[in-house]
Parts: sequence; C-alpha cells; structure tokens
Amino acid sequence: MSENITVLVTGANRGLGSKIAAEFVARGAKVYAAARKPESVDAAGVIPVQLDITDPESIRRAAEVANDVTVLVNNAGISTRANLLTGPMEDIRAEMESHYFGTLNVIREFAPVIERNGGGSILNVLSALSWKHPAGSGAYAAAKAAAWALTDAVREELGPRGVTVAALHVGYMDTDMVSYIPADQKTDPAVVARMAVDGVLGGATEILVDDTARRAKAALSGAVS
Ligand SMILES: NC(=O)c1ccc[n+]([C@@H]2O[C@H](COP(=O)([O-])OP(=O)(O)OC[C@H]3O[C@@H](n4cnc5c(N)ncnc54)[C@H](OP(=O)(O)O)[C@@H]3O)[C@@H](O)[C@H]2O)c1
Repeated sequence: MSENITVLVTGANRGLGSKIAAEFVARGAKVYAAARKPESVDAAGVIPVQLDITDPESIRRAAEVANDVTVLVNNAGISTRANLLTGPMEDIRAEMESHYFGTLNVIREFAPVIERNGGGSILNVLSALSWKHPAGSGAYAAAKAAAWALTDAVREELGPRGVTVAALHVGYMDTDMVSYIPADQKTDPAVVARMAVDGVLGGATEILVDDTARRAKAALSGAVS
C-alpha cells in the first residue's frame, strides 16, 4: 500500500494516465490527476489539476497547488506520426515540445517540490521507440529518444538529492493514440499501469513492459540497420 505518498500524473484524463492515476488511488495514495482540461478527468478519488506540459505558467501554478507531491508521473504525450524528411516541421517541433521540453519543464518545477517533501520518485513514460526509430514515426521516436537521454541525465542529478528517476518502455497499448493498430497487438493500459506502480513502489529505475520493449533494448547492441 502507498498511503504515505502523494502522486501527480500528467495527461491523467484518458489513456494510460487515467489508469495509472486509478491504480495509485487503489493502492491508497493521494493522487492529483493533471490535465489540460481538468473537467475531462473522470477517475474516482483523484484531485483534478490544470496542467499543460507545454505551458510553463500552468506547470508553475500546478506545482503551487500540488505542493505535497512526492511522486511525479510524466505520462502526457502526443503522436503526430510525422516522418522527418517530409513531415510538417510544426509536428516535428510539437513532438519535442511535448515529450522532451514539456517533460523537462515539469521535472524542473516538481523536483524541488519532491525534495522539499523528503524525497520520492519520478517516472517518465517512454516507449520502445526510444530505442527503435522507424521512419514513419521519426518525429515521435526522436522525441522519445531525447526523453530517454533526459531521464538518464536527470537520474544522475537527482539521485543524490533523494529522488529516484525511472523510465517505462512499452510497445503498443490500447489507447486513443494508436486506435489504428489491431487490438491483438496492443497491451491493456490497466496492466501497464499496474506494472508502472509496482515499479515505482519497488524503486525500479527501468520498467520494460513487453517483448517489444525488451527486443528494442537488446537490439541496441547489434548492427545499425
Ligand atoms: N499508446 C501507445 O501505444 C504508447 C506506446 C508507448 C508509449 N506511449 C506513451 O504513453 C503515454 C500516454 O499515451 P496514451 O497511449 O495514453 O495516449 P492518449 O490516450 O492519446 O493520451 C495522451 C494523454 O496526454 C495528454 N496530453 C497531450 N499533450 C498534452 C499537453 N501538452 N499537456 C498535458 N497533457 C497532454 C492528453 O490530454 P488531452 O486529452 O488534453 O489531449 C492525454 O491525456 C505517452 O507519453 C505516449 O507517448 C504510448
């Protein structure tokens, strides 16, 4: 159980974020469900908070409200499916603004909050595509790779300050983001949420959800394709 922790989950109004928020509630935690539109949050037992990860002022306001946070879950993200050579530059930039700069801005604002509250954890929801970079998802994969590097660097900075930084890597999940993928290729996000919460509570720094993520990591030591 996790009665003594206070969690903030970004993008908690739908998809994996809503499942992670619900899973922490089920384990007894206090949970802020952060969303661009807090009125769209429907998970039971959470405290909705307005937070757009691309808007530093909204992140600052959220950190004032949720000033007792000890666990931050950076889940919010987008997928434009832009390729890098001919995709719209605004989509390529939007992926970086979300997965990289957005996640970094939230960490910069909340890491001092977690420290002031005696330490805790940050979980960044990454992807198998942090490690595998297909042309058709070039913008997304580059942004998730950047977020992976960010995760490692921030872990080194925050570890000595009492904050554990973890990454979750997963293939397809059954959410709106990949509604075009057949159901039999997707993992139930509730299952992923349970693994995420188990990982955070167990002090893990890397959570590999499925074979897609495990294979992508293993392939890093192979030849460049
Ligand atoms: N689905 C997959 O197959 C898959 C695989 C690997 C990794 N992931 C990652 O898992 C995470 C969750 O994705 P999902 O599958 O649950 O997708 P989703 O169902 O499309 O949900 C995305 C969530 O992120 C929020 N969001 C997007 N931009 C935001 C912003 N600027 N500020 C605040 N919230 C924002 C959305 O809020 P709105 O409702 O306001 O749009 C929504 O709550 C993402 O980081 C994604 O990259 C997904």
